[in-house]
Amino acid sequence: MDTVMQDTPLKSNPLNIVNGFRYVPGDHYLENVTFKQLKDFKHFYAQQVAEDPYAPGVRDRAMIKLVFNPYSLKLSVSNTQNYFQSYGANETDGGKVRVFPPLSESIVDDPLFLTVLRKDAELMREYCNRMGKDELNLSIHLIRYKSIEGGASYSSPVWLHLDDEPLVFIHLINLTENALGADNVISEMDNKPKHVLRLTNPLDTLVVDTMKKHAVTPLGSMGGVAYRDVMLVNLEAEVQQKK
Ligand SMILES: [Fe+2]
Repeated sequence: MDTVMQDTPLKSNPLNIVNGFRYVPGDHYLENVTFKQLKDFKHFYAQQVAEDPYAPGVRDRAMIKLVFNPYSLKLSVSNTQNYFQSYGANETDGGKVRVFPPLSESIVDDPLFLTVLRKDAELMREYCNRMGKDELNLSIHLIRYKSIEGGASYSSPVWLHLDDEPLVFIHLINLTENALGADNVISEMDNKPKHVLRLTNPLDTLVVDTMKKHAVTPLGSMGGVAYRDVMLVNLEAEVQQKK
């Protein structure tokens, strides 16, 4: 059974965890978070992100891979820190292993991060129950989109897509008030946009599985430099476990 799982990308056999997408207001995550913890995390975030070597001038980012048991909440740093997406999931950067600026291992002790992860673990357990797993490979991405007035920052992949990951949590950390665009778009497999929503407040979250496609529109600025800071908690698929 294990062999079949490894050879078959989950996308061809999608798991319905949130019926394509779920919007979760930041309040849900902020319940047990103090103002200081959020402030400290924003500070940590700004220290960690560095220029994305695959999108210089457009994005800053940092990444760490973790091994997580959503039942016991046991968390450790993974032995491999490379990030792989299949070409099918990302025509821009798929099919190659990307190495991102490293995210400090100290994130595993950050109170805000642990609170967020404990909440995300609820849906991860649903995934594990159905897959008969108890340990997950996670990749945690801090991605800062930045744009000057008249410029643009954009996501990779740039438009509607399905990820390799069976479950992705997109947590907003900060969106500056001068931001233009940066709206999340959801479609069925026909690529026709069906829902548009926007992560505006800290920890507003979009959870996506592979039942529907998603995208985020490019970020522009109404004046000065605009930023959109997100933290992705990605549950990795077998196809992504390349050394
Ligand atoms: Fe995605």
